[in-house]
Amino acid sequence: MIFFVLAFIGCVQLASAHASIWHPSMWGFNVTNPDSAFNYDNRPVAPLQAYTFEKWWFHGHLGFPPHPQDFLELPAGQTVTTEVACDKGATSYFASSPGGNIQQGDNPCPGSPISEFHTTGLSDVKGCSLAIAYKSNVSEVQPEDFAVFSVNQTCVWNRFTDFQVPAAMPACPPGGCICAWFWIHSEDSGGEQNYMNGFQCNITGAQSNVAIAKPQLPRRCGADPKNNKPQASPGNCTYGAKQPFYWFQLEQNNMFEGQYAPPFYNDLYNFKDGAQNDIFENSYPNGLPTPSPNNTRTHTFFSDLLHRRDVVLCLSIFLRDILQRILLTLTIK
Ligand SMILES: *[C@@H]1O[C@H](CO)[C@@H](O)[C@H](O)[C@H]1NC(C)=O
Ligand SMILES: *[C@@H]1O[C@H](CO)[C@@H](O)[C@H](O)[C@H]1NC(C)=O
Ligand SMILES: *[C@@H]1O[C@H](CO)[C@@H](O)[C@H](O)[C@H]1NC(C)=O
Ligand SMILES: *[C@@H]1O[C@H](CO)[C@@H](O)[C@H](O)[C@H]1NC(C)=O
Ligand SMILES: *[C@@H]1O[C@H](CO)[C@@H](O)[C@H](O)[C@H]1NC(C)=O
Ligand SMILES: *[C@@H]1O[C@H](CO)[C@@H](O)[C@H](O)[C@H]1NC(C)=O
Repeated sequence: MIFFVLAFIGCVQLASAHASIWHPSMWGFNVTNPDSAFNYDNRPVAPLQAYTFEKWWFHGHLGFPPHPQDFLELPAGQTVTTEVACDKGATSYFASSPGGNIQQGDNPCPGSPISEFHTTGLSDVKGCSLAIAYKSNVSEVQPEDFAVFSVNQTCVWNRFTDFQVPAAMPACPPGGCICAWFWIHSEDSGGEQNYMNGFQCNITGAQSNVAIAKPQLPRRCGADPKNNKPQASPGNCTYGAKQPFYWFQLEQNNMFEGQYAPPFYNDLYNFKDGAQNDIFENSYPNGLPTPSPNNTRTHTFFSDLLHRRDVVLCLSIFLRDILQRILLTLTIK
């Protein structure tokens, strides 16, 4: 008896760990459970694992498009605040949730203990990401088209999750872009679960017209003590534009890590927290080294600095000041 009770509690806790981004621009916004269109739970929050391509790509929601005019606006160089929750009722869009309004401030999963949802706590969240494809027709978007442009490493922890949009994001085609939210959580609570929700998006306030470079496969290169790798191997990192993880499905995976060593949107795969500012065709004028565990030509501190306009500006002001002082000293003498 006690076993069944425990098993039941276990199920409930696992179920509460499911989450998705919520916005009217998404595919599957109104898919519920049960839903006459699916003979399984295909709510946007349901995890995707060991699925055929048709079932996991855009969460199997391509037949449930958003209204044509609904876009999530992404202001270049600014922050976009999204809502991530275990239930639509916990978001501003509760009105179309079968269970009604269960909003509870910044809590992404009201009614389920947050300590259980996030397993061991804030230190155990693994991050989620937004990716973009510069295409307007969703039928033409291929998995290789998505480039991750923003990461929030503390996701899923807050319902209101901020994403920094790189300042150099170019404008979308006239029909807008296609984006998707991706999440893989800690192996402590069933790590084989993938999450993907597609939505219509549009870059506003674009200042640059340099395209995003062809996204490459992310590589495991951060410190990984749990898997006997105490040191990071920066030479093994993929720098620049990277694809999202397509993992643990029956078809079209691009990642093949085992169930207990999932790929994460954090430093483990060189996904820095915040805007991915190095994803553009001009981010690495001299080309990128081919990553390998023994590669020593990494993107060093200084070459990284040179890619930051603020740092370059600050350095040049500093040098100008020194020059002025030297000139002044010489003149006085
Ligand atoms: C979702 O459902 C709400 C409430 O029924 C409706 O107003 C809205 O148009 C629907 N959205 C889509 C994309 O079907
Ligand atoms: C979108 O792409 C599909 C597949 O290439 C094509 O059949 C369809 O006509 C396109 N739709 C529009 C509106 O261009
Ligand atoms: C991640 O989201 C949280 C909650 O909105 C926010 O406080 C934090 O600044 C975000 N991180 C980044 C890097 O944008
Ligand atoms: C996307 O944003 C740009 C800049 O604000 C705007 O000109 C364009 O009409 C928008 N596209 C869509 C499809 O809303
Ligand atoms: C380098 O990256 C590959 C691909 O992700 C991974 O399989 C390998 O374990 C990594 N090796 C080291 C030493 O980090
Ligand atoms: C990388 O270095 C290790 C340790 O020196 C060596 O065993 C391994 O063969 C090297 N791998 C490659 C691809 O050169």
